[in-house]
Amino acid sequence: MTGGPAGSPRLLVRDLAQLVTVPASARAPLRGPALRELELVENAFVLCEGGTVAAAGRMRELAAHRVDGEVEELDGSGLCAIPGLVDCHTHPAFLGDRVEEFALRAGGASYEELHASGGGILSTVRATREGGEGELVAAVRRHADWMLRAGTTTFEGKSGYGLDRDTELASLEAVAAANGVPTWLGAHAVPPEFGDADAYLDFALAEVLPRAAELAEAADVFVEEGAFSVEQARRYLKACREGGLALRLHADQFNELGAVELAIELDARSVDHLEATGESGVRALATSGVAAVLLPASALFLDRPMPPARALADAGAAIALATDFNPGSAFCESLPLVCSLACTQLHLSPAEALAACTVNAAHVLGLAQRRGRIAVGCDADLVLLDAPDWRHLAYHLGGDLIVTVIRRGAVAWAA
Ligand code: NIG
Ligand code: FE
Repeated sequence: MTGGPAGSPRLLVRDLAQLVTVPASARAPLRGPALRELELVENAFVLCEGGTVAAAGRMRELAAHRVDGEVEELDGSGLCAIPGLVDCHTHPAFLGDRVEEFALRAGGASYEELHASGGGILSTVRATREGGEGELVAAVRRHADWMLRAGTTTFEGKSGYGLDRDTELASLEAVAAANGVPTWLGAHAVPPEFGDADAYLDFALAEVLPRAAELAEAADVFVEEGAFSVEQARRYLKACREGGLALRLHADQFNELGAVELAIELDARSVDHLEATGESGVRALATSGVAAVLLPASALFLDRPMPPARALADAGAAIALATDFNPGSAFCESLPLVCSLACTQLHLSPAEALAACTVNAAHVLGLAQRRGRIAVGCDADLVLLDAPDWRHLAYHLGGDLIVTVIRRGAVAWAA
């Protein structure tokens, strides 16, 4: 059962109290009852070789695997291993901050009012345009490092704070340079130099899309009053699809405008947010191939209603969880905190929450074959928790229980 190129570095994590993962046989994305069927192994080991999982199981089975020769050993006594977390929705390519806006919101100003008055997203656009490419690369690296410490071994990163050709492309390059999966959020807001959304889209599709399509995996659009209409989103997404990009949508964050139906029509990978989604949207998603990405940290940060996660899961929708890390609506890089919110606010079980930010999130990124589970042949991404039961991941609200993050078979971060 052991494999991998001879002579490649090997790492054995042994004597783990628990190892939890989605079964290797489960088909992604997990839906309905399958979301709760995790595999739990007590007194476990994981053997990593050449960046992938060569073997995993009970300690008493370890002798059956040839682990002689050079093997680095890591003592997992008293620790639990979970798959490396996958954050499938982040906005890490920005400069500056929005702490002033945060303080104004604490005093009663609404996010939508700030956005309408040229603050919000556009204030981050101004700050991001002012910096150089090197600053953007450093900022994304710093944000990716925060995510890694929080157990994220794979992250998606959107552009969308440039909204001009150079800054959008530099954002995508910065995400790739930090080993993220780049998404072109070319339709995030209408920048001030354009009179209206259609004129901006004419520019973005003619001037930015051709190169963005080479750098990014997916395209994304913010469908909302004051951002882009369903009709404008359709035009943008169709052009992006022709350019070879997978499709994502910021949908129903404040208003239910028909973005869910558009996503289904265009066979998008995901609709994200859904705080305003009603029953018909839930039903439509449940029978579609479009994943519902839930962002409870953003709803909490903006004091907005939570998305209908329980209804979506019960109806059989493919749900995923993500942070939505960004400077305005969710300055939060912690998927463990998102798992806590998923259990306390979205009424998901710890097992459902874990599946939603591992294998199902990997599915949203088109990576479910390799990421999001601890299974032979998958990338050896795992997180070690200092806890007697892996569910402390969600139970310990704001807890500091991550002791080691292993990415592609090597220790990437340790406390
Ligand atoms: O997903 N809603 C649109 N975009 C981001 C927020 C961006 C910002 O406020 O800077 C989101 O919440
Ligand atoms: Fe977002």
